[in-house]
Amino acid sequence: MMTPEMRRPLVAGNWKMHEGVAEAEALVHSLLAGLPATPAAEVLVLPPFTALETVHRLIGSDTRLRLGAQNCHWETAGAFTGEISTTMLEPWCAYVLVGHSERRQLFGETDEIVRRKLDAVLAAGMRPILALGETGAERERGQTQAVLLRQARSGLVGLSVDQVSRCTIAYEPIWAIGTGVAATPADASEAAAVLRSVVDEAAGREQPTVRILYGGSVTAASAASLLHAPGVDGALVGGASLRAAEFCAIVAGAGA
Ligand code: 13P
Repeated sequence: MMTPEMRRPLVAGNWKMHEGVAEAEALVHSLLAGLPATPAAEVLVLPPFTALETVHRLIGSDTRLRLGAQNCHWETAGAFTGEISTTMLEPWCAYVLVGHSERRQLFGETDEIVRRKLDAVLAAGMRPILALGETGAERERGQTQAVLLRQARSGLVGLSVDQVSRCTIAYEPIWAIGTGVAATPADASEAAAVLRSVVDEAAGREQPTVRILYGGSVTAASAASLLHAPGVDGALVGGASLRAAEFCAIVAGAGA
């Protein structure tokens, strides 16, 4: 049986609504120049849709960098103006992020919508990264565990064991996103334990392949301690993923 230590860390860069095609090209060139020949972590970038084809071409057969999307629609095609389906993403992407708090808070995505998206990603043969996390107010009210249980159960319960094993969970406390105030390694570990319990619940037995990431103000300075917190298998990085040298330093921290 695989032990938790055998989960290779995943460091993912969520570029959000940044980087046009030319900037994306420059950033990927810098990343490929800055990553070691064999990074200890799996490294993933999540560019905007418009840069996916370019980034895919630049990565080519280089296995050090993988590609994912930040969002998708749950239907494969149809009259959904402005939306992008998993069928459209599948030629370029190995992963799709679903349920980011910005999607939940700014675009009204409910747990139910997030689940439909997660199902669509799995159906298309890609790997979903299920993002979840509590607000500052929920945290102050002592509701963190209840919120994480609700969001994680909504995302995972009812999936087959094989489907659960293809999921990654990203714990992103909303109060830590873009604020410069990361959770402590102890907070991240505590959340990871709650989320791991849902993975076990959903799959009926331990699923050692499911990685649990931490996200929220991860920087080169904070990465090593957060990435080595017990139960944390990687990071989902926002702002710092737009700076190649810093992102490479975060990747290095995952292996140190
Ligand atoms: P920051 O790293 O900028 O806080 O963003 C985190 C995030 O939302 C990644 O998905």
